[in-house]
Amino acid sequence: MCGIIGIVGTTPVQSRLIDSLKRLEYRGYDSAGIAGVVDGHVERRRAKGKIRALEEVLAADPLNATVGIGHTRWATHGGPSTRNAHPQTAGRVTLVHNGIIENYAELREALKKQGRTFESETDTEVIAQLLDAELKTRPPLDALKATLDQLTGAYALAVLIDGEDELIMGARRGSPLVVGYGEGEMFLGSDALAVGPFTNRIAYLDEGDYVAIDHHTARIFDETGQPVERPVTTVPASAALVEKGNYRHFMEKEIHDQPEGCQHTIAAYVDPLTDHTSVAGDIDWAKLERVQIVACGTSYIAGLMGKYLIERLADLPVDVEIASEFRYRQPALRPGSLAVAMSQSGETADTLAALRYCQAKGMLTAAVVNAQESTMAREVDVVWPIHCGPEIGVASTKAFTAQVCVLTAVAIAAARARGRIDEAEEQRLVKVLLEAPRLVAESIKLEDAVKGIAQEVSKARDVLFLGRGPMYPLALEGALKLKEISYIHAEGYAAGELKHGPIALVDEDTPIVILAPFDSYFEKSASNMQEVMARGGQVIFITDPEGEKHAPAGARVVVTAPKSDPLISPLVLAAPVQLLAYYVAVQKGADVDQPRNLAKSVTVE
Ligand code: M6R
Repeated sequence: MCGIIGIVGTTPVQSRLIDSLKRLEYRGYDSAGIAGVVDGHVERRRAKGKIRALEEVLAADPLNATVGIGHTRWATHGGPSTRNAHPQTAGRVTLVHNGIIENYAELREALKKQGRTFESETDTEVIAQLLDAELKTRPPLDALKATLDQLTGAYALAVLIDGEDELIMGARRGSPLVVGYGEGEMFLGSDALAVGPFTNRIAYLDEGDYVAIDHHTARIFDETGQPVERPVTTVPASAALVEKGNYRHFMEKEIHDQPEGCQHTIAAYVDPLTDHTSVAGDIDWAKLERVQIVACGTSYIAGLMGKYLIERLADLPVDVEIASEFRYRQPALRPGSLAVAMSQSGETADTLAALRYCQAKGMLTAAVVNAQESTMAREVDVVWPIHCGPEIGVASTKAFTAQVCVLTAVAIAAARARGRIDEAEEQRLVKVLLEAPRLVAESIKLEDAVKGIAQEVSKARDVLFLGRGPMYPLALEGALKLKEISYIHAEGYAAGELKHGPIALVDEDTPIVILAPFDSYFEKSASNMQEVMARGGQVIFITDPEGEKHAPAGARVVVTAPKSDPLISPLVLAAPVQLLAYYVAVQKGADVDQPRNLAKSVTVE
């Protein structure tokens, strides 16, 4: 959730810490802070709000250090304020933290009884106080180990100790932490993006690891205190450096990245020479009894899309569930089923917990992830990566379409393996899937048309999105996108449900977005459109050329996406839906890439 950077440098680190925090701001932006060693003592600077507020503080009071740590916060314990901003300090200890300490209240009470006083409401300060207490009797690494042994919950930490001028310690459990290897300089970061501008040689710490870095080395220990080596990998430049280019927002760029993201992803799952699918994993599709998909947010919606595809093509039962519900309701699971975690980040706490629940039940596990070095990717039996490049905008766009590409290929592969389609049909479907990148590119050209609608929609208090079949998940996604970045209340409904309640919301001030390509559901969707218009509803009809021809008259606006096979129409119609949310948010002057209260990677429950 929060972003962490640590640098043991040879030159001043202030500007590099800030540069890194700006890259990490997508993880949280309630407050920010840095600390560094100045004349043998640790000093810190903090500010409520975004990095630019911290920059103002630093302009007035620079931090002249060559060793330092930084943090950008998504608030959990204690509201957004300078007092609750990290780094948190206690005695000799100054540290930054990502995660949640579950037993912080009891630890805090115990520390208070020892006469310790707290200046913040954070769980993080408890760690600083504990470590400071341990340092009275032990050297730093032993004190860190003794502190970690008392914590329950999730953490990634970077720690400075007053009097230890060339040392940064780190630790991880439940939240990721990487070590970056430079030339005479070493780094800690909450992900590869954090250290990306400084090095592409990275080691990912394992669960329970802790580490001490100085100018040249990283001493890593596992949770039992044994020294360990973690492999140093070279991450691709694309993962390490991400820029907006000429786009105003990352979200806009990422919408435009989709043809390439889909193309790269599809290329990994089909053979364009033979038009066969090639899906990794030792999965006996013919014998498989069920698929259980677990995910959150947009990834959950991509999973729903997968249900429509896999059940229809492969006749294989698929359950899709929101991970935070799934993990606590003790679902009845059997070995012989496949669990699929969907997650852009591969770090979402609820999805990870649901995945581990499935593993404990003896299920085979797969993960559809963007971050290939993520915890989920490392814990599953089979990784099905998406190849759309790092996604920075908090509102997921290109990860969604790439996830749907993966599940489409999986559905075709499963259908073939289960004998539900023959080779010729597999080849036809693969050819259709290979057309998706071009058609998504065509669909993005609707940008100006969608921009034209945005002004009117931006005045609405509520917006309804309706769809049938695979357009139902897309309706959910349209509503989620609009809600999260424009703060307009929106609901996605299966169009057939309209008359069971939501139709009461229809009036002349409520835009109704109907997603209806000319497929087997079209006539039913057109009837729903009539029902809405008969009650004064203002319909934005998103369809294709044939749908435009057959649409009932009276829609306020018709947006015509390119003609596509039903297999890929959710991919093709996704762009106008995303663009609508984007331009409404722009129209409202909202912070598109960093909407209020949200964070990109939700590593807490
Ligand atoms: O990294 P994940 O895909 O696991 O993240 C899941 C959700 O937090 C994410 O999709 C969220 O809903 C996005 N803000 C949606 O745009």
